Amino acid sequence: MNMPAAFSSGVAATDAVMKLLQPGDEVICANDMYGGTYRLFTKVYEKFGIKFHYVNMQRAALVEEFVNENTRLVWTETPTNPLMNITDIEAVAAITKKHGLLLCVDNTFASPYLQNPLDLGADIVMHSATKYLGGHSDVIQGCLVMNSQELRDQLYFIQKSCGAPLPER
Ligand SMILES: Cc1ncc(COP(=O)(O)O)c(C=O)c1O
Repeated sequence: MNMPAAFSSGVAATDAVMKLLQPGDEVICANDMYGGTYRLFTKVYEKFGIKFHYVNMQRAALVEEFVNENTRLVWTETPTNPLMNITDIEAVAAITKKHGLLLCVDNTFASPYLQNPLDLGADIVMHSATKYLGGHSDVIQGCLVMNSQELRDQLYFIQKSCGAPLPER
């Protein structure tokens, strides 16, 4: 069962995923992604001791070269904003599953209408609902979707503790 969690923006949804991590953890992420995601990683989370490796996600096999004992999360965006680069989600998911890593996919540009990363092996899907889900950029909203109750519970705890949710109930 897919479980969504609504946030006050796409960036707030991304921020919640990053709060699953601890100092010393490492992230392998796309070298081309939405600038606000890059800013959050480099300007906020690096100083909390998270290390990021930026790779060309169009070559999925490259991801495995950066995996080490501290790697916790792989973050990709497909298609990317603005260059429309594509990640083979299934190929990256095969690597993350082999090494017990989380895979989060920013699916903003494809939308769930065209692409469902959970079906391709991702653990978390992130959407800026400000874009195509909202349709007119007249609402700012973000969303995470996952199919693990454990992850949902962890993210719900972060969401209610850190104050960036849309009211859900
Ligand atoms: C691919 C992508 N991810 C995330 C975001 C951030 O979303 P928001 O503006 O809802 O915080 C954007 C916004 O442009 C985006 O294009």
